Amino acid sequence: MSGRTILAVETSCDDTSAAVLRGECELLGHIIATQDMHHGFGGVVPEVASRAQLAVIDRIVAQTIDQAGIRLTDVDAFAVTAGPGLIGSLLVGLNWVKAAAYALGRPFIGVHHMEAHLFAPALEDDRARPPFVALLVSGGHTLLLHAESWGRYRLLGGTRDDAAGEAFDKVARLLGLGYPGGPAIERLARQGDPGRHAFPVPMVHPGQREGSDDYFDMSFSGLKTAVLMRVRELERADGLEDETPHLAAGFQHAAVQQLTEKTLRASRATGCQRIVLGGGVARNTALAAHIRSRIGPDAMVFVPSPRLATDNAAMVARAAYFRLGRGEQDGYDLNAQAQLPMPGIV
Ligand code: KG4
Ligand code: ZN
Repeated sequence: MSGRTILAVETSCDDTSAAVLRGECELLGHIIATQDMHHGFGGVVPEVASRAQLAVIDRIVAQTIDQAGIRLTDVDAFAVTAGPGLIGSLLVGLNWVKAAAYALGRPFIGVHHMEAHLFAPALEDDRARPPFVALLVSGGHTLLLHAESWGRYRLLGGTRDDAAGEAFDKVARLLGLGYPGGPAIERLARQGDPGRHAFPVPMVHPGQREGSDDYFDMSFSGLKTAVLMRVRELERADGLEDETPHLAAGFQHAAVQQLTEKTLRASRATGCQRIVLGGGVARNTALAAHIRSRIGPDAMVFVPSPRLATDNAAMVARAAYFRLGRGEQDGYDLNAQAQLPMPGIV
């Protein structure tokens, strides 16, 4: 088992990625192809995304195998993201993997996209293992979990409306920045004063206690609306342009404060000193810096490198390594699911 070679494919949204993993963390090949045709739309257009996945999947897998210095016949098992995600995009990867597994007579397994994010830091640091608190923040999801062990997760909280990354993207659009919005907001915020438009931190109130139903939950739509109102006021006064860095900084500050406060509460409530961040928003350097500055000196905060924070096939391969190691595999009746429930939730 230790030297098993896994080929994983990830096509859940707008990135096409393949990876070859040998054993637990020897990444032999890894390619991520990002679609840039969505920039003009201010978000991912599902039909455009799946057509683009179909156009590049063969080439991306072939290049990854080349990079790994292996042949397709050297692959011992295949893995693929089975959900959640955009159904057309998911089906491209799933069908590719099913066909390859069938042709070569190898096992394959479908992986849950968010469980895969939990495994990303473990590829780079073997201390990033359970028990830990995980904050998974991407364009489609915002989850606060207690990973008691691999495969056993307690859901502590989530967003009640928009996902964290979605909020960055929507606010970026309000400020006339491109898609994806997160990196653009982060860049602009560096030149702004977060105190100038001090937006209230959502879902954080003095009277909250563990057991209150909003203790771990998060929300972003009220914050986005507060930015929208301020933008409209400034537009009427013809003063928006000079204020955009301050608006970006104020929004980012409130979003980061909320995510940090909820993560610290989870750490205190579970007694976990290990924190794992994942998803595209984990690339935000202010977020990791803020969590590190507020958590105690004994805590360890694991942030995957930018390539492994966003959607990638290496994390899918690592999650598959765990599941295949437990004797799991899927049959050809496996289907993609846009809303796949997270496995192992207790
Ligand atoms: O995990 P991911 O690549 O794809 C999804 O599964 O959604 O996350 C993409 C999201 C986008 O909303 C993007 O704006 C956000 O991650 N993002 C960031 C940053 N880089 C990417 N958000 C805040 N700061 C960043 N530096
Ligand atoms: Zn993701």
